[in-house]
Amino acid sequence: MSAQLFDGAKIAQQIYDELMVEIESLRQAKHPPGLAAVLVGDNPASRIYVNRKVAACARLNVVSRKVELPQSAATRDVLRAVDALNEDDSMDGILVQLPLPPQIDEKEILARVRPDKDVDGLHPLNIGALVMGTHRWAPCTPSGVMEMLRRSGVEVAGRRAVVLGRSRLVGHPLAILLMHANATVTICHSKTRNLPAVSREADLLVAAIGRPLMITEEFVKPGATVIDVGISKVTDGETVRKVFHSVPERMKEFDAKQYVIVGDVNPVSVEKVAGRLSPVPGGVGPLTIAMLIHNTVRAAKMRHGV
Ligand code: GUN
Repeated sequence: MSAQLFDGAKIAQQIYDELMVEIESLRQAKHPPGLAAVLVGDNPASRIYVNRKVAACARLNVVSRKVELPQSAATRDVLRAVDALNEDDSMDGILVQLPLPPQIDEKEILARVRPDKDVDGLHPLNIGALVMGTHRWAPCTPSGVMEMLRRSGVEVAGRRAVVLGRSRLVGHPLAILLMHANATVTICHSKTRNLPAVSREADLLVAAIGRPLMITEEFVKPGATVIDVGISKVTDGETVRKVFHSVPERMKEFDAKQYVIVGDVNPVSVEKVAGRLSPVPGGVGPLTIAMLIHNTVRAAKMRHGV
């Protein structure tokens, strides 16, 4: 048996097709949606993510602005940038790319973004609304996971969901969304005892721990749906060969680039037992940006009463 793979790019394109209609009608109403991304410092992955977000805006006719601050920026510098965007009527959504350099008070920054422009859903008021189930939108990656499940017809209500990881961006908000969708939810973290046994109870297993290739078949109940939210670069040739020796495309990728992009799931192992698997790359990743644009369109409509 080999797990059926989710096609994140295809699902993202469905979402974009729907959004393009809404974006066009906002433009007709003289309210072109606008998204601002704040990038602090020189984390190479963050730069790639922000550039992808800006490129998605360009493709979809969404106005975008990139605000860059140096690695040495202080909390007050970032607050000033956020304040200016809060006041800027042409910007409907604001996202501050995480992680921020260590000298910056992340909580203070996230709490400064106007809640009605907080398209990442990370302001305390929006997290409170998410917990209560009165949210206007949810953080992008967890929303992407929920859309992937919904659009692929994966049943959630009444099923056992196990979320590995309790991060602010993914694990914690995703567990709440799954609970609102009537799953029976367990959240696991670094202190969880007997992780493989707990994971094996899941009909729906979500890995969001940031430990490359950690989840193997011993964590997976036969037939379960496995969603891999991790994203890491593996540069160690021995690890790559050990995991991917039977997958020529992956070995070629490593030979060409001297790294491979992987998730938290060892796909070669898990594919043997899972019913469905969201792969890395090509799974949840494309949906994160689609949901960011979705949230921006929602924010624009709400702010303009459309
Ligand atoms: N860093 C990694 N993922 C995200 C995200 O979804 N939003 C923000 N702001 N930063 C991130």
